[in-house]
Amino acid sequence: MATVVEPRPMISEEAAPNGTVSPLESLPPIDPAIILQPNDIKAVPALVGEIVSRGLTAVKGDDQARVALLESARALVRALEKPRETMIRHCWADNTAFSALALGIDTGVWVYLGADDKPKTVADIAAATKIEPALLSRLLKHVAAMGYIHETGRDEYRPSSFSKSLTIPIIGAGYQIFTGPGSTGGLGKCVSSLPAYLKSTGYKTPNSMSDGNLQFSHETKLNMFEWLHANPPTGQQFNQHMGGYAQGRPRWLDDGFYPVQERLIEGFSGETLLVDIGGSVGHDINEFATRFPDAKGRLVLQDVEAVISTITENQISPKIERTVYDFFTEQPVKGARAYYMHSILHDWPDEVSLKILANIKAAMTPGVSRLLINENVIPDVGAQWEATALDVMMATLLSSRERTRVDWIRLLEDGAGLKVTNVYTFANGVESLIEVVLPETETE
Ligand SMILES: C[S@@+](CC[C@H](N)C(=O)[O-])C[C@H]1O[C@@H](n2cnc3c(N)ncnc32)[C@H](O)[C@@H]1O
Repeated sequence: MATVVEPRPMISEEAAPNGTVSPLESLPPIDPAIILQPNDIKAVPALVGEIVSRGLTAVKGDDQARVALLESARALVRALEKPRETMIRHCWADNTAFSALALGIDTGVWVYLGADDKPKTVADIAAATKIEPALLSRLLKHVAAMGYIHETGRDEYRPSSFSKSLTIPIIGAGYQIFTGPGSTGGLGKCVSSLPAYLKSTGYKTPNSMSDGNLQFSHETKLNMFEWLHANPPTGQQFNQHMGGYAQGRPRWLDDGFYPVQERLIEGFSGETLLVDIGGSVGHDINEFATRFPDAKGRLVLQDVEAVISTITENQISPKIERTVYDFFTEQPVKGARAYYMHSILHDWPDEVSLKILANIKAAMTPGVSRLLINENVIPDVGAQWEATALDVMMATLLSSRERTRVDWIRLLEDGAGLKVTNVYTFANGVESLIEVVLPETETE
């Protein structure tokens, strides 16, 4: 059947206000024939070659080779797909699979299916989860068609490693915060409202914590953290999601990343060694306590009450002091060797970040204290998709941003009056460790 295609999608009124003709209108239309051609068939032979050569190294357990292979495999899919297929995947397939996976987490489908590796019928899963069998049958068919579980027969499925992992809170929680709780639509609602919100602002960079896209989407004045905690159990799920995000990623404590022994531990004889500001349930500072059990000095975890109160007795090392602290108030721990912040400043626009930084700066002792900022430093070219996704997510949820090196220097040196001594970067797509001192300090 012949495809009838309009010359181009309608461009919004903002591009051509008051009936004027947008300069975009005079640009030549794209030939609709490309819709039915692969996106980049010429790239396919080279990508297949890459996959073969990288595949051999990746299966030997080299994780960097695995990641490179994955990028080649993704590029191959994009090159082979026709625009129509990519569009259907984006608009129908990925988002409905996401909803079905989230529903399976909420109802225990993946728990039941993953109890062992034996195939299970829809009837049995439906009985265990109280989902109408006819409905479950359709949902599981799609999840299997998308490759997330294995179809073993008619209305019969076997779990995959991935579907089993959905039963682990740090993996499953992300799906829950993006779809719920209740009928709120969760954070996912904010993702779909972003174009409309930005249109309403005349396409300006969002910079208001209390009047941004999340507030537009959920009709609230609460900022994201307040909204999460006001909609339980989303706050707790968010903490789990952050734990999941950090899994398996290189950490600043890894060998060859930041010289912890030399920069923090050696020669330190003060009172407090490390303060983890906004440290959530303590995954980073606990890792520090585990890796450096003999390091001298207090280890202090700080976060808001709603987070600190969720930490169970044995969840983190007893050496770690769990304290409730609001980083917009005076920092109570003075002269620590290191004030550490992981994924904090990316949550806040510059103006607000400067308030957080001022409180830390006032507590730092020249020649002793270092501020360690564990964040993405987005490269000017060749940024990795996980970091760019996070950047757009920051604009979507918090009117904030991931920052480039220039952005960081502007914020930390020009704005906060601190001095950046070094940016320790492990690999593209991995968060860097920005080491900062007081400008008058001799500690470099
Ligand atoms: C993106 S999470 C990062 C958590 C942790 N550092 C990590 O990397 O997993 C931001 C953290 O900042 C905390 N936070 C938000 N507002 C805060 C405030 N005013 N004072 C202290 N912590 C706050 C949140 O509770 C949350 O744990």
